[in-house]
Amino acid sequence: MRKAYIDAIGMYVPENVVTNQDLEKLMDTSDDWIRERSGIQERHHVDGECTTDLALKASEEALEKAGMQAEEVEHIIFSTMASDYFAPGGGPMMTRRLGIPGTPALDIRMACSGFLYGLSVSKAFIESGAYNNILLITSEVQSVALDFTTAGRDTAVLFGDGAAATVIKATDEDRGLLSVKTHSDGRYAEDLMLRTPSTLDNPFLTKELLDKGYGNVVMNGRTVFKHAVTKFPQVIAEALEAAGVEKSEVKLVVPHQANLRITEAVANRLDLEMHSVVYSNIHKYGNTTSASIPIALFEAMQEGKINRGDTIVVASFGAGFTWGASVMRW
Ligand code: COA
Repeated sequence: MRKAYIDAIGMYVPENVVTNQDLEKLMDTSDDWIRERSGIQERHHVDGECTTDLALKASEEALEKAGMQAEEVEHIIFSTMASDYFAPGGGPMMTRRLGIPGTPALDIRMACSGFLYGLSVSKAFIESGAYNNILLITSEVQSVALDFTTAGRDTAVLFGDGAAATVIKATDEDRGLLSVKTHSDGRYAEDLMLRTPSTLDNPFLTKELLDKGYGNVVMNGRTVFKHAVTKFPQVIAEALEAAGVEKSEVKLVVPHQANLRITEAVANRLDLEMHSVVYSNIHKYGNTTSASIPIALFEAMQEGKINRGDTIVVASFGAGFTWGASVMRW
């Protein structure tokens, strides 16, 4: 049966590194607090770059690794929470940046689950024969929508900027995406949100709205934490069952890098060995939203932790709430 598999990944993070000590100068926080609550030591923030600048660099690397010219891309899927323009989205912009006008492009804005939703659509597109390859781009610039004063410290310290691009191709071999399961629940929208611009207001963008902080990401951290540690294990179990794979067969779990404490709690609940089976690189990047899983996959591959034939699980939880998991044979 025709399957979709990840052929190549590229990644890019801005050069500008922001350490916990840098944040101590902007707000009432401490390196200890941030490390202990999240595992984060530093993150990268843009310095004048926009979302498609990051996306372009990641895409060029992914295409080179896949041995493809941009002209060969049959479909783009673009995931971000902050595109260059409010409209149009980043997908069409990437056809311009890559010099491939006319290429179909689909925008998804599923926050931290953007990569999982992108995999879900890619799997369906490829298995149905509609396309032979997809360029799934996940590019996030969160630093422009964070409040770097003490009032915003619970959220601002957690997020970083970064991008990844994943080339997904068709194969007749016994490998690739075995299952993808996704969910959403809008009852918790306000527990992790960026409110403005919003059609709840007319006009939808005013100085008063921005003065109220509506242009910043806000979060109810405890509610997010509570739901994340329940939904991650649930959806991983669901994806394993759909793939007909036993937990013992899994070589590596690569969760969305939201918070090291969440990752550890999930490993605990799944009874997985945190340091050998569950991947984490959050200390270097913070939470890069939908880019975090493919960035982690990229680095796990570079470190030799993922090899051909391995069974890998990826999983996400984020704003919406949205969550998902996929089981893949590399
Ligand atoms: N530095 C120092 N102190 C901070 C702080 C910061 N950056 N942010 C919050 N605090 C303070 C709070 O104001 C509070 O002070 P108080 O006790 O005087 O009121 C104290 O630390 C404890 O706050 P609390 O919210 O209870 O901390 P917590 O243990 O729940 O940790 C999070 C906060 C945000 C780290 C935690 O809730 C979390 O990880 N949530 C999930 C976040 C997430 O992953 N989001 C993305 C999902 S995709």
